Amino acid sequence: MHADDPLALLQKRLELRRCGGLARRLVSIGPATGARVVVEGRPVLLMASNDYLGLAGHLRLRRAAARAAEELGASSAASRLAAGTLDGHLALERQIARFKHAETALYFHTGYMTNLGVVSGLAGPGDLIVSDQLNHASLIDACRLSRATVKVYPHRDWRAAERLLAQGPGGGLKLLVSDGVFSMDGDLAPLARLLEVAQRQGALLVIDDAHATGVWGETGRGTAEHFGITPGPELVMVGTFSKAMGGAGGFVAGHRVVIDTLVNRARSLLYTTAPPPSQVAAAAEALKVLADEPWRRQKLHQLSARLRGNLTNAGFEVLSPAGPIVPVLVGGAEPAVSLSRALLERGVYAPAMRPPTVPQGTSRLRLAVSAAHEPADMDQAAQALQEARREVGL
Ligand SMILES: Cc1ncc(COP(=O)(O)O)c(C=O)c1O
Repeated sequence: MHADDPLALLQKRLELRRCGGLARRLVSIGPATGARVVVEGRPVLLMASNDYLGLAGHLRLRRAAARAAEELGASSAASRLAAGTLDGHLALERQIARFKHAETALYFHTGYMTNLGVVSGLAGPGDLIVSDQLNHASLIDACRLSRATVKVYPHRDWRAAERLLAQGPGGGLKLLVSDGVFSMDGDLAPLARLLEVAQRQGALLVIDDAHATGVWGETGRGTAEHFGITPGPELVMVGTFSKAMGGAGGFVAGHRVVIDTLVNRARSLLYTTAPPPSQVAAAAEALKVLADEPWRRQKLHQLSARLRGNLTNAGFEVLSPAGPIVPVLVGGAEPAVSLSRALLERGVYAPAMRPPTVPQGTSRLRLAVSAAHEPADMDQAAQALQEARREVGL
């Protein structure tokens, strides 16, 4: 064996993670949808899925995906710019543009790839990106990939964002980038303020509505609708079909010049085989179900309020003020893992979120509510969490 054994080195690094309570492992869940699932052979109440509206198992989405696969095949078989753009891709993109009240839109394989493509497709060397401290990993990676100058502002601090944009360097494109709903904290970006900042500073504002699409706004169109904002040309709206929309794929909607730029420059759109027909068909159907079944969003918010009320009454520190992401602050990584394990023993699954996913000292259980849940599930989850807390001694 070589003195610099690479596997031994990796093993040592893994051990370091284990000691700090930071090692991760993959847990099998079956099936992936619904309120009750089986985790490692044990039936549990699932409080960890982003299937906020319960659409992942919806018959209409399943049928649409199956029909598309039967009629059109299992793959798009080429990249978008080669022979991979099917009628379904273009029809879905028109549907998304209408949904977001935007001029035009593009559909990607995943939300992660959308963020990579949008940010690194719009900004490059000589440009400036100003980014919220708690933005999702995909936006952070996208900023790095762009090779633009990147500055990070304290969470939701739009005044600091404005100062950083004003300081420059100027001369290139300016991008202000924020999650619309923060994935680990569940709180919302100050969208109206950010938009004013972008307008004053001559920047484009990229808002990632991965967790807002289908959830926020009167008809589930996202944070702009929630705040009563009519999208202007400087707003670049990102979203996913992988969470509330019960499918897969990401999208960007906005001004034609922005989208045309991405058709020319977004490498995660161009250098990969186009999303398969089944995925596209499920996404298109999800938009229709969203319009047909508004009760799902109403139920989701009612259930979320019930869980949040139960937990705050029991003395837990819940980080978000509203919505289906209900993060319960623990602090250290090891106690968070112990609490999650004790919760699982009581039949409720909510894994611990630890660094680097969240900042040091803010490990948490991220409970997520779905319209597939019932009110009694919210009571069961809160009750089990209280018992787990007693057992762990927190
Ligand atoms: C804020 C945010 N943006 C983007 C993504 C990536 O979306 P997708 O799962 O569709 O790749 C996620 C989660 O995965 C997210 O939480």
